[in-house]
Amino acid sequence: MPNIHAFATQSDLSAAAADLFVQLATASQKPLFFVALSGGSTPQALFKLLATPPYANALPWEQIHFFWGDERLVSPDDPGSNYGQAKALLFDHVPIPAANIHRVKGELPSGLAIVDYVDQLNQAVDDCGRAWPHFDLCLMGMGADGHTASLFPGPISTVEKTQPVMTVTAVYEDRPANRLTLTPLVFNDARYVLFLVTGEKKAEAVTAVLHGPPDPEKWPAQRIQPHHGQMDWFLDQA
Ligand code: 6PG
Repeated sequence: MPNIHAFATQSDLSAAAADLFVQLATASQKPLFFVALSGGSTPQALFKLLATPPYANALPWEQIHFFWGDERLVSPDDPGSNYGQAKALLFDHVPIPAANIHRVKGELPSGLAIVDYVDQLNQAVDDCGRAWPHFDLCLMGMGADGHTASLFPGPISTVEKTQPVMTVTAVYEDRPANRLTLTPLVFNDARYVLFLVTGEKKAEAVTAVLHGPPDPEKWPAQRIQPHHGQMDWFLDQA
């Protein structure tokens, strides 16, 4: 059962997430710290915090490598780009080397975007024989339908069960439908998974995912069960 932390407000939640990010990154004994970011609106406040003191000057930016748990297949300057959001709110304000940012090349045809991203994952591997790194921190969000990253409700495909990366077409709010996502193969290898979920509209999904019967087809966030890593859920009161 994951650790569940409830915060009075979204800003309290974001501050706690920023503190945890610094704690994990500075306590890591490894030379590099691998992070997979989520997109959407929830992490925006966290990105802004990490871009400002005291967080910005507490983090070893040269050692931190950023990937994405999922990305919309749009160009990096498209308003729907998860990379573009993180760049504007965080990377443009901190001394992070460009080589440490491993974005999904959403401007490519999906088949090429997958090959490129799998190659970036391969190159990041910190122990031989593996095709993707053990992420030190996977930041996860969840939609009101229980999706996480771009794992959406419905039958779990063979690709999702056997490949580290896959493309998905899914309509959610007014967001770009064509996406690329890491699969549970990668997420469940992580050392630490942190869900940030806020807002009343997600309360039903949170209850179903955390306290309802196992139904990972209906509630994709249930597919995230780290084999050895720790998983925390940060929720606001709503
Ligand atoms: C994306 C995200 C997605 C997001 C949820 C929640 O690309 O849209 O990675 O999985 O985390 O949809 O989005 P909000 O934080 O905007 O509610």
